[in-house]
Amino acid sequence: MAQFYPEELIQEIDNHNDIVDIVSEYVDFKRRGRNLVALCPFHKEKTPSFSVSPDKQLFYCFGCGAGGNVINFIMRIETLDFVEAVKLLAERARIELPEADYTGIEGERIKKRELLTEINTKAAKYFYNNLVAEKGVIARNYFDKRKITEKTIKKFGLGYALDSKDALINYFKELGYKIEDIEKAGLITKNEKGLYLDKFRNRVIFPIFDLRGNIVAFGGRVIGNFNPKYLNSPETEIFNKRRIMYAMNFAKNEDVNELIIVEGYMDTISLHQHGIKNVVATMGTALSEEHARTISRYFKDVIISFDSDEAGKAAAIRGMDILLSAGCRVKILNLGEMKDPDDYIKAKGLHKFKKAISESDSVLDYRMKLLKQTHDINSLEGKIDFVNEIAKTLTKIENTIELDAYIQKISEDTKISKQAIYAQMKKISAKNNLKEKKTRKILRETSNVKSDNLFIPNKNKSNIDSAEEMLLNIIVSDAKVFNEVKDFIKAYTFNNSVIQKACDTVILLREKKRNILPSEILSHFTNKSDIDHIASILHKETGFEDNHKAAMQIINTINKNIMMDTIKDNINEGNVEKLKTLLQYKYKQS
Ligand code: CTP
Ligand code: MN
Repeated sequence: MAQFYPEELIQEIDNHNDIVDIVSEYVDFKRRGRNLVALCPFHKEKTPSFSVSPDKQLFYCFGCGAGGNVINFIMRIETLDFVEAVKLLAERARIELPEADYTGIEGERIKKRELLTEINTKAAKYFYNNLVAEKGVIARNYFDKRKITEKTIKKFGLGYALDSKDALINYFKELGYKIEDIEKAGLITKNEKGLYLDKFRNRVIFPIFDLRGNIVAFGGRVIGNFNPKYLNSPETEIFNKRRIMYAMNFAKNEDVNELIIVEGYMDTISLHQHGIKNVVATMGTALSEEHARTISRYFKDVIISFDSDEAGKAAAIRGMDILLSAGCRVKILNLGEMKDPDDYIKAKGLHKFKKAISESDSVLDYRMKLLKQTHDINSLEGKIDFVNEIAKTLTKIENTIELDAYIQKISEDTKISKQAIYAQMKKISAKNNLKEKKTRKILRETSNVKSDNLFIPNKNKSNIDSAEEMLLNIIVSDAKVFNEVKDFIKAYTFNNSVIQKACDTVILLREKKRNILPSEILSHFTNKSDIDHIASILHKETGFEDNHKAAMQIINTINKNIMMDTIKDNINEGNVEKLKTLLQYKYKQS
């Protein structure tokens, strides 16, 4: 477990922050049985699959699988680490915190991340000081030429890396930093002779921020026309290109529905300087699912505004689908003959740029344009292919009036009947719907079922995993049955190590007190997917009429499935006592 604060203190903070109070600051709830449901704040959806249990103090989303206790919720929604989330909740509950104790593996990791952020922040200040000093004149002239103002330089913390092999290395050495740490921060490289060199030399510098505005990496551009034009920090413990988008720390605070995505640093900065601040850059890399998920948390509409070259077009098409799947509405800006948004706004001005934005193509218009370039809709084959392709996009449009207007237009353009287009869409939707139906069915089945059916193995999982999960759920909710089966649990080696750890935690907690909350178990986990997994199990209603009977039947199933292996193992190891304990659990039909 994360040992930054004493366990009792974490528990106190958990107890003093009701998950319903906290979560309702972010979502609108409806009551469903014992639970509250809402549209999930972690992914886009139309029907609520996000559920909070006041009794268990847990949340779980059937749609995206996110789950946990109140601390996990705050970590996720505010993108905070464990310690920060605990601090926030302690403050709300007016509980005083001692200094965090950063020992243990997780603490080491946090300390390392803080050190790397500190090094990057100091480097940014150093680059900035170079820029404003006399030796920075060449870089200042460059920014001048590109019409970047002093105010913009300050806002984005732009800087200059000197034309030197080791100016930055020496700067950090003097401050007493270790060379390995500067390397881990991504600021220096080793040459073939094993010698360390400054990574950024004679370049203008763009600091890269994470969501919270910490400096985690840099981009450096040559002054003039050399290759490579841009050099970026490597991936480090604090810089993951799949997650970070340039300037999202600024854009996320803009109170608009719409986000503009561009390719480059200069595009972003230039638009900001013109007062358009809902802009982020992918920094040349492909738009990832992680990017899309972050975007969809803050914005509903996205305008892709990549370069007008072939690479930019290809990236736009790929990005489009990823954003649509994340639930965003997508449009594509047409830059005409201009190379990129920076060139556009400089050449034509703010007013024309805004007009172009308001006239950007819908995904469908854009696809139609491209498909018409590759398909001859005067031939029968071309026509069929065209409709097949366009129908895929049509199925993603939610507004029926908009949809009908499009189908009307396509039908007129291609002379294909509206009915035929609808029929093709139906076929495609049928496939897609199957997935969604399954999720809804699980939601129905798990909200408050009372069942005599004691053990229904989940078809997608092995019997053993399902049985272990149910046993965990029972011993968390029922102290009496826990006492009846605790010897078995102690003797048994769980197939799934996460369930094993959860059961060990139950034993640990129940030794101290009789009543435990499901949310408490989660404070003992740090891995996000483990937390989701345990929350998915514990938020379910066990729904058994007789927990004792159910537990015995589950143990029976476990025994039947594992017995031969277990007997062999225990005989080989001479664990007679353990064998006896395992075998004495027999479910008798009473
Ligand atoms: N990029 C990169 N490495 C390169 C080229 C580009 O990392 N060798 C990234 C940078 O983040 C850059 C973005 O891709 O900002 C877009 O590239 P490009 O269109 O070439 O850059 P511009 O921003 O247009 O550069 P400039 O206007 O300064 O020429
Ligand atoms: Mn450019």
